[in-house]
Amino acid sequence: SIVPVILAGGQGTRLWPKSRSARPKQFIDLVGESSLFQQTLERVRDAGRYAAPIVITNAEYRFLVAEQAQERGIALGAILLEPVARNTAAAIAAAAQVAISQDENAVIHVLASDHLIPASADYFGAVDNAAAAAREGQLVTFGITPTHAETGYGYIAVGDALKHGAHKVAAFIEKPDLPRAEDMLTKGGFVWNSGMFMLPAKLFLAECERLAPEVFAAARGGVAGAKRDLDFIRLDEAEFSASPNISVDYAIFERTDKAAVLPVSFVWSDLGAWDAVWKGQERDASGNAVTGPALLSNTTNTLVVSETAHVVVDGLDDVAVIATEDAVFVGRLSQAQNVGSLAKQLKADA
Ligand code: GDD
Ligand code: MG
Repeated sequence: SIVPVILAGGQGTRLWPKSRSARPKQFIDLVGESSLFQQTLERVRDAGRYAAPIVITNAEYRFLVAEQAQERGIALGAILLEPVARNTAAAIAAAAQVAISQDENAVIHVLASDHLIPASADYFGAVDNAAAAAREGQLVTFGITPTHAETGYGYIAVGDALKHGAHKVAAFIEKPDLPRAEDMLTKGGFVWNSGMFMLPAKLFLAECERLAPEVFAAARGGVAGAKRDLDFIRLDEAEFSASPNISVDYAIFERTDKAAVLPVSFVWSDLGAWDAVWKGQERDASGNAVTGPALLSNTTNTLVVSETAHVVVDGLDDVAVIATEDAVFVGRLSQAQNVGSLAKQLKADA
């Protein structure tokens, strides 16, 4: 069976102020009745297909992970704790080490905990095809058909056909600038990297050792020196913190020649920033989406999310108003990617 590896250590700063460092976006009920992390757990709750999931997160979020899994009655295979955040390359490498310690031939399904993906037959068909391609020695990515020139995603040039509907990755371009993103959209033949991966754990680690040896060494040392604490596995701090802070996209996928892409058609949304939340919601005839008590007048293409405060917006276009109990964000919806650096600045100033 496939071993799910759920990445739940991100800070989600671009969704400030709903997403806070003490409770980032994957753990809040952003859409629907449960958190995105819980919705991710539900998608791998299938004993016919999956082993118990490995969750890897920051030590700070350990009780959120344990409680939210318990709330859904889901038994976790392991909860790995990072003493410091070193981004996704080190996190996946550590989880892959743990997976092969249980099964040398493990195939891991790496899932982000901040995506909205309805569990459909299409989706599970893609999962099974990806697992078949992974078993034949490919590091499999899932390719989403692009709808606009987005600079927040990785782009994959689709190469020659392989088996199981997969193709070679001809090139992988992580987070291009706008002209380059527009160019790829016009040219065609590119898909977005979904941020989910299906990986033969051993092959992934071999590529990691070859292409990012410092990440590999830190993950291996972190797991070798790990200590059990209740249900948690704490990675060794001195070892793990030696890893460079780099995402798996830059560290491995831009560099490897072992990657394949499976173009998919299931519904997928990365709720990365407020503009994505707006796009993913129902909007009225003026293009406004409102959650909470609000009155909008002469206003268009605007997102309002308010927990308790009454929000009134008059005569504006392209605005995001996000009001929580103790913080308010107001800014251009189309420039919502800026929120992340602003939130970080606010934290540094505090
Ligand atoms: N455990 C752990 N530790 N998890 C982490 C860490 C970390 O240090 N950093 C991020 N994560 C988790 C996040 O919580 C999220 O679930 C996932 O890893 C991806 O991280 P993001 O920070 O959301 O990445 P991104 O959205 O900027 O980019 C990735 O996803 C895009 C699609 O959503 C890339 O893979 C892009 O290529 C891709 O297009
Ligand atoms: Mg993301």
